[in-house]
Amino acid sequence: MSLTKKIGDARLTYDGCDYNIPVLEGTEGERALDIQSLRKNTGLVTFDPGMVNTGVGESNITFVDGNKGILRYRGYDIEDLAEHCSFLEVAYLLVHGFLPTPSEYNAFSTQMNLHSMLHENMRNFFALYPDHAHPMAILSAMVVSLSTFYPELETEMTEAIDITVARLLSKLRTIAAFSYKKYMGHPIVYPRSDLRYCENFLNMMFRTPVNDYVPDPVVTRALNQLLILHADHEQNCSTSVVRAVGSSRANLYASISAGVCALWGPLHGGANQKVLEVLEDAIKTGTSPKALVERAKDKSSNFRLFGFGHRVYKTYDPRARVASKICKQVISHASGKDDPLLDYAQELEATAMADSYFQDRHLYPNVDFYTGLAYRAMGIPVNMFTVMFAIGRLPGWIAQWLEQRDDEIQRIVRPRQVYVGPESRTVAETISQKPYKE
Ligand code: ACO
Repeated sequence: MSLTKKIGDARLTYDGCDYNIPVLEGTEGERALDIQSLRKNTGLVTFDPGMVNTGVGESNITFVDGNKGILRYRGYDIEDLAEHCSFLEVAYLLVHGFLPTPSEYNAFSTQMNLHSMLHENMRNFFALYPDHAHPMAILSAMVVSLSTFYPELETEMTEAIDITVARLLSKLRTIAAFSYKKYMGHPIVYPRSDLRYCENFLNMMFRTPVNDYVPDPVVTRALNQLLILHADHEQNCSTSVVRAVGSSRANLYASISAGVCALWGPLHGGANQKVLEVLEDAIKTGTSPKALVERAKDKSSNFRLFGFGHRVYKTYDPRARVASKICKQVISHASGKDDPLLDYAQELEATAMADSYFQDRHLYPNVDFYTGLAYRAMGIPVNMFTVMFAIGRLPGWIAQWLEQRDDEIQRIVRPRQVYVGPESRTVAETISQKPYKE
């Protein structure tokens, strides 16, 4: 049942006719033109590259106000959730729509333990990738491979979906840790039933036969918070991909695997890796923050300041604010001293913020600007940063996939276009113009 209210009509005049276009309003006052009948009534499609103005449907999961810098999951502010919840509680909130009671939480946690292992045959897959394989490629391939080991999703029973959701949430973390071990050339560490979600991940990452790793509570809390910051962000690029793939009734694993690939790009989740690479390179080459900002402003340089700018936020990204706090805490806990990269990042932020190019375009630090520095301080290598983002984003992808599946007004995603290619022609007339004979 639709939850948007019709609050009036807009009038479109075209080719001598008037058309009423319903105006809808959501619970936070966002307004939208309902153009579902536009093509049928007028023969027109809308032209909206990058879907900048397109609302793909209703959603009751996440609210973003890009002008005020507000982000809420299921009505709760991101700052509130990061302060008072674990990542697993937030995952439950996103998937089920409400925060778990203690007994619901324990049952969910037990599911995470039960489903944390990978089929032993999947270990062979890790072994055969080249040593330099990017962990995002491995992650995407492994996620879709899960569908070959756990095909019961093909049934549409709720219980089967619940198990699939638990499997995915739990196993993605195991896959991520195994891909790190592969990269390091270290033996795999299996999940443990006595550790909670984030502790378990850290243990699988950092325990070795010669290091009896004990998860550090400060690092564990910071990891919980960072994953919460990533957990959902309404109709972003990767989520739109997950929904588009899901709209063809492809299974959950296939849809999430596609989402992982979309997240990988440097304009999206891959920006966290780029931020660190740019900062490290700037320090190595002695490039000043001012010089970096000038390069980013120069359109001919093809260089952007990664970790800056956002399609929706035209003010400070609330996730960046929390991430910068976490980042400082983890760095001071890990080393007790200043980090030249953090100092440089702060100077870069101040330089960009004081520049009219960034001010005029409302370009502020986004979530990726500080998260990488925090992951680095935890000992996570740069090429794993986007994998960390993917672990965090997974509950959001799942919630959005489920929401779309159960939404009666959704149809297979199939946008239109404005064709600008050659006009009709024939092979015969083309061949007659060829300057050679067969
Ligand atoms: N550095 C320099 N200039 C920028 C930047 C940047 N990081 N971001 C935007 N601009 C400029 C553009 O060149 C453009 O300038 P113009 O008006 O003179 O042509 C203007 O600001 C608007 O930018 P668009 O690219 O049109 O904005 P869009 O909404 O399409 O893109 C995006 C948003 C992709 C995030 C962009 O800001 C960007 O490339 N940022 C850097 C990459 C990044 O950090 N991505 C992570 C985003 S958060 C996330 O996905 C998890």
